[in-house]
Formats: sequence, structure tokens, C-alpha cells
Amino acid sequence: MCGIVCYVGEKEAKAIVLEGLKRLEYRGYDSAGIAVQNGSEIVCLRAVGKISELERKIGERVIKGNSAIAHTRWATHGEPTERNAHPHTDESENVFVIHNGIIENFFAIKKNLEKRGIVFKSETDTEVLAHLIALNFEDSLGEAVRKTMSQVEGTFGIAVIHRHVPGEIVVARRGSPLIIGIGEDGHFAASDVSAMVRYTNKVVHLNDNELAVLTAKGFSISTAQAKTVTRETETVEWQPEDVELGGFPHFMLKEIYEQPETILNAMRGRLEPGEGVPKLGGIMPVWDHLKECRHIEIVACGTSYHAGCVGRYVFERLTEIDVQVEIASEFRYRKLNFPSNTYIIAISQSGETADTLAAIREARRKGARLLGIVNVVGSSISRETDAGVYNHAGPEIGVASTKIFVSQLTILTLLALLLGRHQKLSLTEGVEAIKSLSELPEKVKKTLSQDNHIQAVAEKYYPCSNWLFLGRKYQYPIALEGALKLKEISYIHAEGYAAGEMKHGPIALINPEMPTVAIVPQDSMYEKMISNIQEIKSRRGPVIAIATEGDDRVRQLADEVIEVPPTLEYLYPILTVVPCQLLAYHCARFLSRDIDKPRNLAKSVTVE
Ligand code: G6P
Repeated sequence: MCGIVCYVGEKEAKAIVLEGLKRLEYRGYDSAGIAVQNGSEIVCLRAVGKISELERKIGERVIKGNSAIAHTRWATHGEPTERNAHPHTDESENVFVIHNGIIENFFAIKKNLEKRGIVFKSETDTEVLAHLIALNFEDSLGEAVRKTMSQVEGTFGIAVIHRHVPGEIVVARRGSPLIIGIGEDGHFAASDVSAMVRYTNKVVHLNDNELAVLTAKGFSISTAQAKTVTRETETVEWQPEDVELGGFPHFMLKEIYEQPETILNAMRGRLEPGEGVPKLGGIMPVWDHLKECRHIEIVACGTSYHAGCVGRYVFERLTEIDVQVEIASEFRYRKLNFPSNTYIIAISQSGETADTLAAIREARRKGARLLGIVNVVGSSISRETDAGVYNHAGPEIGVASTKIFVSQLTILTLLALLLGRHQKLSLTEGVEAIKSLSELPEKVKKTLSQDNHIQAVAEKYYPCSNWLFLGRKYQYPIALEGALKLKEISYIHAEGYAAGEMKHGPIALINPEMPTVAIVPQDSMYEKMISNIQEIKSRRGPVIAIATEGDDRVRQLADEVIEVPPTLEYLYPILTVVPCQLLAYHCARFLSRDIDKPRNLAKSVTVE
């Protein structure tokens, strides 16, 4: 999705914001642009395609200036063309604005402005902002932006410069994230901490309906109603090397290999082996109420939704709680009526996914209590929930989520275990769970050690254009996730199915050209999965089985076997997903896909 990065300070701004834009590439975009200010001179350049295209356009040009705004655009209104790329400007080219989000009343505003004789240069909703800010400008850019905020509806994170106000950048937000960075020699603002982590780890989050005026020397925050705001500076844990490849060919592979560490980080300081109860400090403020909870609704999108689907089985196994899982974008269409002991759990890596945010806001309106499982500290969802648990997984750069998924599963298990110990689980069960959780990092490492074998399997099957993924119970969401990973990054058509449903449709597709990935660890669903594999084999469909190590029965039936070490039934998903990720990765690599930035996808989906 769209990305914003700006800098005003003592250094040359162009290189800093271009570097920042590269850190935002992973979010997905189709064009990019930059405006650099030097006194009353502003140089604005835009290009379709990758940031390297923008750099090519800049070429050898020396663009001087100590303040700059830069943007990556993911088209919503108007095609990805140069004229629709940001920054946008007003008729006299005084105001330059970049924008994330959607101005919902742009059409009405545009019609009004056109009546006044203003000629639009793009098809974007953003351009109305440039014209409105120019019209509202008297002598203060901050005030012009404030007035404009009161005229527009929808969502925005914006950054604005004005030809007659050099050395100042005004940023504002409603619904789209914006973070201020405090550097040694200037100030930054970005839609994502990764864009500035190389320069500073001191940040201040802007809230909805706030604006900030940044200069080289300082910044001031105020509300849309002109009330001054003072806010503490936060320190982010992320390191510059977290956003580097570190010798891996792709971030996705790096992140798959980080998973043993990711699981450790999700558990660090949270395990009490002797008592068989995890400690989750983040939910303590609501514990007295939460411990009596008998109903949970999980809301999430994409891979986080699949984590929620696994979570449902884990909660139902370990606690007395009924769990529903809902795709966040569908949640609001339901007749929401929560019993008083209901908690909504929002699962989101970014903490900014628009549909998940909208879902929790709707739930809040209906009086529900909210928990978040979020990776990005200080993100909107983390701030709008009553309490929650952070993943502490560091940045995930690959668009296709991998390490966060296993982190989410780990945290859901810890939460279920904590509640379960209070509600029904014995000390022995708690101790066994914690012991098995502690063994997971080593078991994931062991699974990763089969990477060469998985690559060989991928090499054999990547030319097949349709794949089926089957699983039951805990492994059904893994089948969904395996299929999602494959289609996201390789563009191979793949479907994830509950294995029991195979007979009701997908079996018609089975033939020697269509591989089935059957997820068949030795759990309570084993015998039924074996029957499904036999059904596929009798129709000459190739089977790639993900099975428990040493399983000779599966080995005799399946064409290929990828092994995972044994664990408890409810922890198997954390292991079985790993071969699915690697299969998708290698297929995409054989097909020479843009693995970290697949076409049309975005890391953080901030529009509904
Ligand atoms: C996008 C990403 C997915 C992610 C989903 C939900 O579709 O490409 O990888 O799972 O958004 O994102 P969230 O940040 O809410 O977990």
C-alpha cells in the first residue's frame, strides 16, 4: 500500500527520503514520487514502476534541499500513471502533498472546485487536498491543513510542503498511520517505522485527527480543533539490520529461517515452566474480567485470519470458551450481539489493516471488550484495544507473511493456556504444554533442515498450474495458509480445502497433473486423512504429504513425503506450516517471481 517518508533537517534530504522509500517498497506500490524543497524552489519528480525508475529519472541531477516529501503509491483512484503519482500540487504549484488513504467526498469537492475554474491534472482523490490547502493558505501552512481536515471525509495520512514556507513540513492523519521520527540533525515522518529505523529509533505516534508541524529544530503536535498535544517519545526495538537481507536472496526466505527465533521471542519472559502457566503482562490490566470470559470472536484478515482459525481449535481444546473466527471485512455485516463475557481478539501483524480496525471499532460501538495480538508496537490496533500481546517478532518485510504466522500461533496458544489453566487444565497438562512449546524452536530448525529436499519437490511440481491443499481440524487452516502462500508469490492457482469436503467438489479435479499437498501428521485426524490420500491416489493424483517423521504408512502411499518432528496435536500447525512456506518459496523462485513484492499485493492493506 501507499507509503510516506519525509525529512526536514540539516542534511541533504533527497538521499534520505529515497533510502526511506526503498524501505517501504515491501508494502507494495506501483509508482513513486518525491518533492525536494530548497528555499522557495521545489523540485518534484514522479515515475511509474519501481523506485529504481524514479532514481533513473533523477539521474545525475543535483537536487539540493534540506526538506523533502516522498511517496510510493498503490493505485485506488486512477490508474498507476505518472500524472496520478504523488506528490500532487495546486494550480500555482505552491503546495505539494502526498497522501495515504482515500478521500471519500472527493467527487463533491472536485465538482465544486471545477465550478470555480480549477483544472484538475490527475484522476486521484488526493489532488483535491492540494487545491484545498492552497485555497485555505493565508500565512500558516499548519492552519491551512487544519482547515482542510475539516472539509474532507475519509481516511488520510498526509505530508505537505509549501513554496512560501521553506523548512517546514506539515503532516496529519485520520485513519492512516503516521509516525514522527526524532533524528540528531532533523525530523522525519513516515507511515512505517522501517522507513526511518536507519536514522533514528526515537518516535512519536500521531493519533487520528492530529497534525504536526516539523522543522529541523523541533516539532509540535495539535488536534484538528487546535488544542496543543504533548506526547512522550517512544523507543522502537527494531535495528537497522532487521530491514537488511543479511545474505539471504529474499526477505521471505530470511523470515522463514528466523522462525525458531521468532517463536523464542514470542515466549521470552512469558513461560513459567514449574507452574505450567504463561505470564502475559499485556493482558493483566483486564485479567479480572478476561478470566471469566466464555465467548471469543477473533477478527483478522489474510494470514492473520488463518492464525485465528487455528486459534479457535486451540482455545476449544484448552479452555471452556466458545470461539468464532470471522474475516474482518465480513464481521460488520453480521448481526452483532455479544454476551457480556465476550472478548474480541484482533490479530494483525501491522496493526493497521483497515478492515480489522473497522471491525474492532464496530465491536466497540456494540460494547464488546477488545484484545489485540499485534506485531507493530504503537500501531492503531494496539492503541485501540483494551489490552493485548505483542509478537516482538521484529519487522516482517516479505509481503507474504511467514514468521508472524508462527508467532501468532505461539501467542494464541499461550493465551489459551493461560485461560485454560484458570478454567480447566491441570498442572500436569500445563507443564506438558510449556515443555512442548519450549521444544518448538528446535523442531522448526529440524524441519528447516529439509529445505534441499523441499526444493527438489518444488522443482518437480512447479510446472503444474493447479494445486490442492488438504487438512483436517488443526491442519485445515494450514491447508488454507499453504494454498494462500503458493498463490500469493508463485501465481499458481491453489485451493485449500477441509479434507472432508474433498468429495463434495475438488475430487472432480484430481488427475495426474494436479498435485495435492496432504497435511497428515499423526494426530486425531490421521486415519481419516489416510483415507483421503487413498482416494486421491486411486484417481492417479500425485500426493505430497507433510507427515510425522518415520511414518512408513504415509511413505508407502504418497509420492513425496516431507517430515516434521512429533509434537502435541495442537502445536503441529507451527511445524506443518513450515514446509508449505518453503514449497511456495521454491516454486516461486523456479518461476522467477518477484517473491518479496508479488504483483498487486500489499503488505499493509490500509484501505477497506
Ligand atoms: C495483507 C498481507 C498479508 C497479511 C494481511 C493481514 O494481505 O499481504 O500477509 O496477512 O494483509 O495483515 P495484518 O497486518 O493485519 O496481519
